[in-house]
Order: sequence, then C-alpha cells, then structure tokens
Amino acid sequence: MYFSDDEMISLAKHKDIGVRYQLLWFLSGSDLDAGEVLTNLVKQDHADAWMRLAIICAATSKSAGLDRLDFIAEPDLRKTADGRAFIETLVETAGATPNRYVGTAAMRGISRLREDDVGFQFQLLGALVRRASEQNLALLRKNDAKGLFMQLRERAMETAQDSKASEADRVSAIRALAIQSYEELQPIFTISLKPTQPRAVQIAALELLSRVGPIEAPDLLLKIWPSLSPAVRATATEVFLSRANWLQAFLEAVEKGKIARADIDPARVGLLMKSPNRSVRVQVEELFGKVVTKRKDVVDYYQPSLTLKGDPLKGKAIFKKECAACHKLEGVGEEIGADLKAIRDRGTENMLLNILDPNREVKPQFLAYSLETTAGKTLSGMLTAETPNSVTIRLLDGRSEIVPRAEIDSLRSTGLSFMPEGLEKQIDKQAMADLLAYLNSIK
Ligand code: HEC
Repeated sequence: MYFSDDEMISLAKHKDIGVRYQLLWFLSGSDLDAGEVLTNLVKQDHADAWMRLAIICAATSKSAGLDRLDFIAEPDLRKTADGRAFIETLVETAGATPNRYVGTAAMRGISRLREDDVGFQFQLLGALVRRASEQNLALLRKNDAKGLFMQLRERAMETAQDSKASEADRVSAIRALAIQSYEELQPIFTISLKPTQPRAVQIAALELLSRVGPIEAPDLLLKIWPSLSPAVRATATEVFLSRANWLQAFLEAVEKGKIARADIDPARVGLLMKSPNRSVRVQVEELFGKVVTKRKDVVDYYQPSLTLKGDPLKGKAIFKKECAACHKLEGVGEEIGADLKAIRDRGTENMLLNILDPNREVKPQFLAYSLETTAGKTLSGMLTAETPNSVTIRLLDGRSEIVPRAEIDSLRSTGLSFMPEGLEKQIDKQAMADLLAYLNSIK
C-alpha cells in the first residue's frame, strides 16, 4: 500500500477518527516522511488516549525517519498539563527506541522549544535519557551537531550547580545530565553530593552517578559514604547494590570496615541473604550473620534478671528515669528511639539483649552522627528531620538543633546506635527484672 503526501494529509483530516487511527498504524510500519501528517494528528487528537498511544508508536517506530518528532515544539501542545505529560512520555519512549534517528529527532525537537521554557526542556532531556540503553546514550552524547543542544547542556550544568536555583529545577537539570560523560560531570558530583546540598539534589546526583559512572561509582561512593545522611545513604546503598561488580566492591568495603555493618538497614541485609546468587548469600552470611558482641560479659552478668521475679510498678519508675528520654510508653516519654510497644513479642531474652547491647542491630535512621558547623561547633546526635535547607539533630541531652545546610562543615556517621551502651550502670539485677516485667506488661 502506498499513499502520496497529499493523500496522507487528507486522511489525517478525515472526519472519522477510526480512519485517522488506522492511518497511524499504517505509518508505524512505513518509512514515509510523515512529520507533517503526525503534527496534524497530534494537534487534533492528542486528547484521546488510544490516539496518543498510536501516535507514540508511529513517531518512534523502528522505521521512523528524522522528521517524525518535529511536533515536540508545537506551542499548543505545551499549554495543557496533559499535553506536556504526553510529550514527556513520547520523548521517554523515543530515548528507549533502538533506532538512532528517533533519539536524534527527539533531541532536535527538544532544542527547538522556546527559550522561556527551559525547565521543561530539562525535564524532557531527563525523560530522553531515563530509559535509554547504554548504546543509545553513547549515540546521544556524540550528537553534538546541534549548537542549541549544546547550549542546553551547558545551561543544565549551570543550573545543577546553582544554589540559588529552585530545588525542582536543579533536580530536573541533574537528571537531564545523563547525556554527559562521567569526566564532564566531575563538578556536579563534587558539589551536589555534599551534605550541604538539599537531599533531593544529592539523591538526583547519586542516580546520575549510577547512570554514567559504571567504573568510577564504587570509589566515589566509598569516599563520600561517611558524610551521607541516613536518607541519602539508603539511596547510596541501593545504587551500590544495583550492579554485580559494585556489590562486590560494597561487600569488600564492609569486610575492610570502610562501611560499618550498622550503616546497612537490617531489612536490606535480609534481602541480600536471599540473593539468588549463592556466593553473595555466603559472603553476606559471613559478614552480617555472626553478631559479634563486645558486651558478652555484661549480658552474662544480667542473665539472673531473666528468672528473678520483677515488679512492673517499680519497673515503670525505672523506665521513666532511664529510658523515657527516648522511648514513649503509656503516654510517658518521647518517641525518639524505636517503638517498644510490641517489643515483648520478641521475648524477654531479646529484650534484655537489646537493652544491654544496642549496637547488635541498629536501623540506619537511629545511628548517631557527628556534625561540625562552619562556626566550629561539634554536635553529636541522631538526625530526626531533613528539609531541603536544613537538618535537625537530636542531642543526647534531649535538645534538638536545626542546622542550616549551608552551615554544615562536615557530617559523619559514627556507625553506632543513638541508644548508648552502659545504660545498665544505674540498674542492678533486680531492677532489670522489674524493668523487663514492666516492658512485658505493656498491652
Ligand atoms: C538516648 C536515647 C535512648 C535511651 C536513653 C534509651 N534508648 Fe532504647 N533505643 C534508642 C534508639 C535510638 C533505639 C533504636 C536503635 C537501636 O535499636 O539501637 C533504641 C532501641 C531500643 C530497643 C530495641 C527496639 C527494637 O525494636 O529493636 C529496646 C528494647 C530499647 N531501646 C529499650 C530501652 C530501654 C529499656 C531503655 C532504658 C533503660 C532505653 N532503651 C533507653 C534510644 C534510646
């Protein structure tokens, strides 16, 4: 079957949407220059979900030529949120299409967008690289021919580093930068991965690193590791574990103590222990399985408390005195540490272990950090909140301080639980039995 250009244009204007739909499927399988026809159909029909799907298929098909995505720059389309979402999906699909003309066509369209919509340009650039294969990325990177496109990349580099730009624009710009190579992105990593940066910016930079730094990522991650906050570190862990050879580097770092075992969420360790890869399971079991306690003597000393008869009322008073600064039970105390309401389900012996040896197993959000401010002050405690511009650190004496990110000089995890060791010093064997009886009495 063959249509002349005029015939196609008239079919694209056919009053029956069924005919227009058929035309799109015909185009998906043909290599005709169909840019103009597609532009007409997009303007007319992009509000219809089925037509949208058919347009995306026709515009990004295996046989598509360079002209099919010209409509990306259509001003009418960008006026509505639906239209913008449609363009974004289309560009994302184009980036993932194994046809080099399609990616290039999308880049052409993006670079033609009007200057005043630079935020949307970054967003589209980000969409273009989001699902692109390594080969497609390499092709897109080489595609420097269009001066406009290079300008756009430059602007993305600038915005990504600009502390005065909005967080959303910076994140879009960083996402768009997967188009650059690791070397070109050095300044982004140096700046955006600091604790002084908003969390979303740090996370976007980590995601970028995982896209563009297949060889360099592990070393860089290890270098910045101690200064990551718990939320960012969770993302860093996922990045680290996302490729087989990075995972090896990660496990090696744990073995050498460069990464503390407490830095990894026990739930994450649990998942690794179920890895389909046997040698990974064995390694993880070896590294994390045996819990070494430095507090064996203390634990042994308090064993009699498990059999002594305890008085829950006396226990409640001890709780109030020694524990309520961080735990809340029956309306008494503060919810800083873990919730103890269901603790008795784990058995009295476990409870005792947790009290005497808080570092046996710590969730990362409960780690103690040491923060130095640019004014030279050192704060130690747990990070209880993070906003784009500040972190809140809870000190051991119960006070909280909000530190603007701009005033953070360094932030380091201690690898230790915020729950201190040695709480038992104030609690004799009988008192411990009372405390356990109280914790066991909570319904
Ligand atoms: C300075 C704060 C602080 C004090 C004081 C404190 N805890 Fe904790 N506690 C925590 C934090 C933070 C965690 C969670 C991290 C961890 O498991 O190490 C925790 C965890 C626990 C757990 C384990 C909970 C779980 O789900 O794994 C138990 C049990 C516990 N605390 C009991 C106590 C008792 C009993 C006292 C008083 C003798 C006490 N804690 C005093 C901060 C504190």
